[in-house]
Amino acid sequence: MDINRRRGDMVEFVDADTAPARNTGQVRLYNEAAFEAMHKAGGLAAQCLDALEDMIEPGVTTQAIDEFVMDFAKQHDVLPATLYYRGFRHSTCTSINHVVCHGIPAQKALREGDILNVDVTFIRDGWHGDSSRMYRVGQVRRAADRLLKVTLKALQIGIEAVKPGNTTGDIGAAIQDYVESERCSVVREFCGHGVGRLFHDMPNILHYGRAGDGVRLQKGMIFTIEPMVNLGRPHVKVLSDGWTAVTRDRSLSAQYEHTIGVTESGCEIFTASERLDAAASA
Ligand code: MF3
Ligand code: CO
Ligand code: CO
Repeated sequence: MDINRRRGDMVEFVDADTAPARNTGQVRLYNEAAFEAMHKAGGLAAQCLDALEDMIEPGVTTQAIDEFVMDFAKQHDVLPATLYYRGFRHSTCTSINHVVCHGIPAQKALREGDILNVDVTFIRDGWHGDSSRMYRVGQVRRAADRLLKVTLKALQIGIEAVKPGNTTGDIGAAIQDYVESERCSVVREFCGHGVGRLFHDMPNILHYGRAGDGVRLQKGMIFTIEPMVNLGRPHVKVLSDGWTAVTRDRSLSAQYEHTIGVTESGCEIFTASERLDAAASA
């Protein structure tokens, strides 16, 4: 989500069942039933991203990927949340190479060596499951491969910082420390977000910051972590189409995203994928 729509860190917590269905600035706490519904919504987003692994190769257009996501949604009776969201007209975001996020699907073929992020959010029975991952188009260069590994690990390190008592700042600090130790940089202009019945809700999950800052985590919170990591400088700009965010220095950028829920002892990953985990540990 966009930095311009962030609000402060002084937050109130509310029972998600009784709170109004719009962004009130409060942080919703969800019950067991909500967690089950989120597993279903998130699981389907993960399943779609898994299926894309088999189709992404040189020559495929991002438009074809978008159509695949739309068809997948229809088959499973869910809605792509990005379709008509704030004027966005596609079922997914496809961000190639130096595109940081919010890339618009188009009739442009992927090329050997490209790296691609596909970001899918499905609304299932009113619940949003939001996840993205990176795809290697054919063989990629060593630097690109390293960036993808660093970014996935950054997400995992962020997730490990999630447990009641820790703060959102602990997540950001853990991610930033790791990414910068790998001589990469964290994008500041976009952040993770509360999610559930709403697509983009409180709190904001910054992928940088100071340990102890931000909102104290509680059981029942649901949000995304979605670090964007650049090989070069952290700065981005948005192109004249109003969506496509690119690195200012045109260095490569990568992103992985999971939707998670805070439990008593840590968190559950609603968008978990065995296929992604297997590829990560290979
Ligand atoms: N799925 C993106 C996120 O992780 C949001 C995309 S909004 C769009 O928050 F309008 F660009 F599609
Ligand atoms: Co998101
Ligand atoms: Co997303």
